[in-house]
Amino acid sequence: MPAPLHHPPTAGPSATPGGARIHTLPLPPVPSTLLIPLAARAHGGRYFPQLDCADTQAAGLLQQLGADVSAYLADRPTVLNVLWRTRRIRALAQDFFAAHPPAWGINLGCGLSQYLQWLPGAAHWLDADLPAVMALRRRLLPTPTARQHSAAIDLQTPDWWPALQLPPEALAQPLWAMCEGVLMYLAPAQVRQVLQEFADHAPPGSRLVLDAIAHCGVGQAGWHASVGRTGAQFHWGIGCLSELTRMHPRLRLHSSYNVAECYGWLGLWLEALWRPWIGAPLYTLAVLEVT
Ligand SMILES: C[S@@+](CC[C@H](N)C(=O)[O-])C[C@H]1O[C@@H](n2cnc3c(N)ncnc32)[C@H](O)[C@@H]1O
Repeated sequence: MPAPLHHPPTAGPSATPGGARIHTLPLPPVPSTLLIPLAARAHGGRYFPQLDCADTQAAGLLQQLGADVSAYLADRPTVLNVLWRTRRIRALAQDFFAAHPPAWGINLGCGLSQYLQWLPGAAHWLDADLPAVMALRRRLLPTPTARQHSAAIDLQTPDWWPALQLPPEALAQPLWAMCEGVLMYLAPAQVRQVLQEFADHAPPGSRLVLDAIAHCGVGQAGWHASVGRTGAQFHWGIGCLSELTRMHPRLRLHSSYNVAECYGWLGLWLEALWRPWIGAPLYTLAVLEVT
């Protein structure tokens, strides 16, 4: 097992209100947010056993990083949110691969997640993120198998799709793509460009699952109990779900899921109260399909 990473002095806000410190990664603010879902998948099952995603890799990765994520775990609503979305995405992907056995899966902005562990039906899987994150993956994760592929990309550049270097057989049938916990950190024009690239290139029947915050959350990351510690900011949110499909004529909304459901009746009630003002759910998972 590689030695824990050395953590240089960090610039971002890392002191918790109670005084405990979070070991931040040697990464800029946005990529360093990958610790938040990693911590939830590693240890969130302690607090929400019914949503435990049984991630066999996450705890070992945290150990190798030597990261103290106790403050992220103390942010229980976010832990619950991550476990809920992981299970939703996992179930959606399992259904997709059952219907399209030779299909490829792509995880855009994968962080240190490992969805392939839950998807034996996926013929091939490609994890893509910024170069610094892909270097971290190479350092921490076991040698990839023949089904596992990777690409260093920057979704803020117009040539991210060719940078995936998908072989022709990946595009011979619908493909599965996911972009989880990523797009809210991009500018609206960049999000539009990501969706347009996907819709321009992915074969018909392909799906993209993404998560989106409501407009009212834009610029408010400092108030978020976990993201606020990283120094990252939210730049993109939606006012209604049709904004997603309006970005390209080939995109249709396959399905959507409201995070309020994981907070039970109270969450649904509060959401119903706020809805007239905020338009979209506070946090949505949307599945877009290429027609
Ligand atoms: C909150 S983390 C989510 C990681 C992973 N999807 C998960 O749920 O565990 C945000 C991720 O988005 C990636 N990301 C942010 N901007 C990106 C960009 N322009 N291109 C590619 N990846 C990006 C970050 O590097 C980071 O891994």
